[in-house]
Amino acid sequence: MKSSSQALIQQAKEKINEMKLLVANDPYRLDYHIMPPVGLLNDPNGFVYFNGYYHLFYQWNPFATTHGAKFWGHVFSKDLVHWHQAEIALAPDQWYDKNGCYSGSAIVNKEKLYLFYTGNVKNEQGERESYQCLAISEDGIHFEKQGPIIHVPNGYTGHFRDPKVFRKDNTWYMVLGAQTMEKKGQVVLYTSPDLREWNFQGPIAGSDVGELYDFGYMWECPDLFQLNGADLLLVCPQGLSPQGMLYQNIFQSGYFAGEVDWKQHTFSHGDFVEMDRGFDFYAAQTTEAPDGRRLLVGWMGNAEEIGSIQPTENNGWIHCLTLPRVLEWKSGRLIQKPVKELEKLRQEEVRHVAVVVTEDELLLPKVHGSVFEVKVDVHAFQAKEFSIHFGESSFHYNIEKKIATFTRLKFSGEGKEIRQCTLEELESIRIFKDTSSVEIFLNDGEEVFTSRVFHDLNREEIYFHAEEGQVKLDVTKWNLKKVT
Ligand code: FRU
Repeated sequence: MKSSSQALIQQAKEKINEMKLLVANDPYRLDYHIMPPVGLLNDPNGFVYFNGYYHLFYQWNPFATTHGAKFWGHVFSKDLVHWHQAEIALAPDQWYDKNGCYSGSAIVNKEKLYLFYTGNVKNEQGERESYQCLAISEDGIHFEKQGPIIHVPNGYTGHFRDPKVFRKDNTWYMVLGAQTMEKKGQVVLYTSPDLREWNFQGPIAGSDVGELYDFGYMWECPDLFQLNGADLLLVCPQGLSPQGMLYQNIFQSGYFAGEVDWKQHTFSHGDFVEMDRGFDFYAAQTTEAPDGRRLLVGWMGNAEEIGSIQPTENNGWIHCLTLPRVLEWKSGRLIQKPVKELEKLRQEEVRHVAVVVTEDELLLPKVHGSVFEVKVDVHAFQAKEFSIHFGESSFHYNIEKKIATFTRLKFSGEGKEIRQCTLEELESIRIFKDTSSVEIFLNDGEEVFTSRVFHDLNREEIYFHAEEGQVKLDVTKWNLKKVT
């Protein structure tokens, strides 16, 4: 690597050291999620299985809790539970990536690890340029940059990024997030015989592509894969207006299901479906596990609302990644479950069978904490509404309206805010709570609510409540091990 790279990496290491104590003493540090050692983390990148390890990279600004010239931070794991910090994979040190090594993906080719990422450049006129770049590693830790392999094609702005590369039938494919000159968000497709020469095949989905009109001014972080016979395009459109319970976050993250014609390079698909109903989920990326499972990790964050400050910023860091999930395609819908490996975190199991919840707030022996997994199986729902309260957050299901609601304390600490979705019936709830994060899986992965929560960590009670009737449940609760 060149010396400018060494200097930048040295500065990042010094920043980690300088901030170590402050970061470590933050009570909102997480026990079993991937976090930045210091600074800001955003998208997961380069999720891949290589030489016996899962590798996961992430967008990282080591120098501040704001966005900036991104590095690729790097962790690896044998089991998706215990993650080890690796050396910094990419630093923004070349003319073609000087304002950030932006998001991208990884593939394994001829026993080498290939990273594809976007070089983000602000030119002398202050305009954005982007270059799709390649870096290669033999050991999975040290990467040699190869420079740009794709320049922005005619008809598109500098918002052209986030390459996701995959192989199908002896051809390499790449999907990219793009913006047309008319400010329409799209996903474009490239093909390659050898990973170096790339051929532009045009847009496969987006605003004003096929039957979709005006669906956002930019699409970020696409991913395309087949699951149980369906082709799924994951993507993050920017610029959708809220519609009832939908599109409540600043930017959206979801999928289109359909069928790709790999000869014509077209994709016929259904409507956009949001992947997660919580406040903090974006830029998810998948990979295929050695056993064939389609695994997904997302950024537990989103672009900041103006004036919204997260308390961890006072302690030198912000954001984390979600737990790894396994994806399934069943009866026309995407199912997301926490990976089975996470059961390794469980300890001190407590089980309460056939619990009857009424209008009184019900506390159960040994069911409390701020870092836990709780699983609730609903047997009989003879009430208007059921709720489970933990810390200063709660989950509610109203059976008359068929609406599930997650409520959290606002980051400012004043008042509550909600996210909602419709749900035909409630069969089970699985909550993963980790000091300042919550992931709620409903009906074995039919819907997920992912959010950060910043409340008084001494409030450890978990209680259950029913309105106008009673609900019968089995409740299992585990404390979860600290592995970070
Ligand atoms: C999504 C995103 C990507 C970009 C990266 C920069 O959160 O805006 O489109 O590559 O973040 O950090």
